[in-house]
Amino acid sequence: MKKNIFKVVVIGDGAVGKSSITIRTCYGKFDRAYISTIGVEFGTKPYTIEGQEITMQIWDTAGQERFRFLQSAYYRGAHGALLVYDVTRMESLKKISVWIDDLMNNIDQSIPMILVGNKCDLDIVRAVPASDGDTLADTLSEQYNRVIPFYETSAKTNQNVEEVFLKLGTMMLEERLFEVEKAVEWKERAKSDWW
Ligand code: GTP
Ligand code: MG
Repeated sequence: MKKNIFKVVVIGDGAVGKSSITIRTCYGKFDRAYISTIGVEFGTKPYTIEGQEITMQIWDTAGQERFRFLQSAYYRGAHGALLVYDVTRMESLKKISVWIDDLMNNIDQSIPMILVGNKCDLDIVRAVPASDGDTLADTLSEQYNRVIPFYETSAKTNQNVEEVFLKLGTMMLEERLFEVEKAVEWKERAKSDWW
C-alpha cells in the first residue's frame, strides 16, 4: 500500500493549546503546565483514512510574538493547517485572520484548513460563543474560496481532537487526489494538442 505523508502546521496565538493538541493526538497525554514552544516542535501520527495509510508530520509552531520572525519558514510545503484560538480569549479569535494571512503569504497555493476553538472544557470562563467560531469559519471559507470547517476541542478532555485530525486527513487526501487528476488531465490535453 502506498504511504502518504502530509505536513500539518498548527498555528495560532501563544497559549491557545497548539502543543497540547499535538501532544494529545501523538501521545494521548495532557499537561496542565504551560511550557511555551520555542520555534517549532514536531509530532508524527499514523492514521488510516478511507482505507489509506497516512502519516501526519505535525509542526507545532510557537505562538508568542517574539518568535513570529521564525514562523513563516515553517509554512513551506505544508499540506494542511489547524488555525487554533482559545474559547476563553476573544483576542485569540480576532488574531486568526492575521495568522491565516501569514500562512497564505508563505505558501504557493491554498491548502486544507480547519478552524479550531480549543479549551471548550472551560465553559464557565468562556469568552467566545461557538456561534462566533461558526461565523468566522463561514467568512474565511468565502474569502479563501474553500470550505474551512469549524470544531471546538478540548486537549484536556480529548473532545473532538481525533475528529479534527481525521477531518483534516480526509481533506488532504481529497486535495491530493484532485491534484493528481488535474495533472493527468493536463497531460492528456498536452498530448492531444501535440497530435
Ligand atoms: P505557545 O507554544 O506559547 O504558542 O502555546 P501553545 O499554543 O502551544 O499552548 P500550550 O499547549 O502550551 O497550552 C497553554 C496552556 O493552556 C497550558 O497550561 C495547557 O495546559 C492549557 N491548555 C491547553 N489546552 C487546554 C484545554 O483544552 N483545556 C484546558 N483547560 N487547558 C488547556
Ligand atoms: Mg506550544
